[in-house]
Amino acid sequence: MSQGIITASYVGATILFILALGGLSNQETSRRGNIFGIAGMVIALIVTIAGVTSNIEILIGGLVIGASIGLILAKRVQMTEMPELVAILHSLVGLAAVLVGFANFMDPARLEHYAGVELTIHDIETYLGILIGAITFSGSIIAFGKLSGKIGGNPMLLPARHWLNLGLLIASIWYCIQFVEQSAAGNGMSPLLVMTGIALLFGIHMVMAIGGADMPVVVSMLNSYSGWAASATGFMLNNDLLIVTGALVGSSGAILSYIMCKAMNRKFLAVIAGGFGTTTGGSSSGSDAEQGEVIALEAPEVASLLTESKEVMIIPGYGMAVAQAQHIVCEITKTLKSKKINVRFGIHPVAGRMPGHMNVLLAEAKVPYDIVYEMDEINDDFPNIDVSIVIGANDIVNPSALTDPNSPIAGMPVLECWKGKTTIVLKRGMATGYAGVQNPLFFEENTRMLFGDAKSSLDAVFKNL
Ligand code: TAP
Repeated sequence: MSQGIITASYVGATILFILALGGLSNQETSRRGNIFGIAGMVIALIVTIAGVTSNIEILIGGLVIGASIGLILAKRVQMTEMPELVAILHSLVGLAAVLVGFANFMDPARLEHYAGVELTIHDIETYLGILIGAITFSGSIIAFGKLSGKIGGNPMLLPARHWLNLGLLIASIWYCIQFVEQSAAGNGMSPLLVMTGIALLFGIHMVMAIGGADMPVVVSMLNSYSGWAASATGFMLNNDLLIVTGALVGSSGAILSYIMCKAMNRKFLAVIAGGFGTTTGGSSSGSDAEQGEVIALEAPEVASLLTESKEVMIIPGYGMAVAQAQHIVCEITKTLKSKKINVRFGIHPVAGRMPGHMNVLLAEAKVPYDIVYEMDEINDDFPNIDVSIVIGANDIVNPSALTDPNSPIAGMPVLECWKGKTTIVLKRGMATGYAGVQNPLFFEENTRMLFGDAKSSLDAVFKNL
């Protein structure tokens, strides 16, 4: 394939990726964004495959194995397992960057192609690619463990952990200098291997130190790292498309991390420093201490409360995803709207287990976009709401985030549904949410509980409507 066609295809794919990101920023255009993304990736794959001149059978074998695993995973994965899948896929990007880095370094033609300053620059690219890739790899595996519940959500806080991190950083810089010096003489494998070990440890330590409540930021941060790892790989391979695509993923992940930090009222550096999400013990809302009586209702009573109201706010959370209750929620919404009741959805930025989790579920159930609002848009409206239905949400409607400075989620903005006339909470029991903190909302005077699996409860409410 001629260089001109390759360059034109790369530019075309890059434009499609940018259009994809633009499309994905809005629910109404997200399908189109996805199609742009798929088209860009198809072009990128075709051009890359067409450019390969040797070992084509290995490439085809790799493609078949990779595509089959991807297809099986995508078909089998449950919606509730998506965050874990995203985390483990990030780890593969990191691993690829590490492997490409080592392969690049071991390539005997390396010293023929590069010399002097060019060799130094190439070596630094290789070093950085492996460093970021190894951090992404081990960090994503720990994030996968935490999101899937295989590793506890509590932060692991080693004594002098900041000094440890600083030590690892200084050691990485020192080994980088060693590597660059030795590489010109054809050596350098030892500092590269030591640095890889350090980076793997750093990735583990960094994510282990982050508490459950900060996991949204970690997911988007690792997304960003995987992009930078891919970009560094692009520099190593002299592949412009990989550089640009990696930079797009890296910067959009960084912007998402910023949005997540803002949503949780957290500083990015404080998240990296870890510790948020630990139960401090001193506060009643942080413990399981008895906080009063809860008032439970049955489905017929919930149905009549709904039909008597004029303004209804639906607040979905992780439990809606677990119960797969989005379709019945949509049916209930249609029924209430046909009774001239104004129904809206209030979405917290960190509801569920991944950015946009609730929006994806509601879109799947074909809930109209124009009644789905972000927290900032509707939080002031709660005094006018007759009934708020909290479906499997917990941390995102916890008033102690605003009232209890000792709460593990202190400072996180929440949906202030208790300011409305009545709040109905649908959950199976009195279990805490992801941050492991008890919720005083359940004991408020104007709160009613409808216990049970959210889908079964809503089926029963629907029948009564
Ligand atoms: P959570 O605080 O995790 O609460 C979910 C609630 O759903 C639980 O209390 C659970 O109570 C209930 N539930 C579970 N299965 C249910 C079912 N089948 N039917 C009815 N209820 C069910 O969820 P949230 O309010 O959405 O808050 C999200 C939390 O996850 C935040 O702490 C956030 O920081 C964290 N997080 C978010 C992300 C992103 S990016 N969104 C990523 C990682 C972590 P029962 O067991 O009593 O039913």
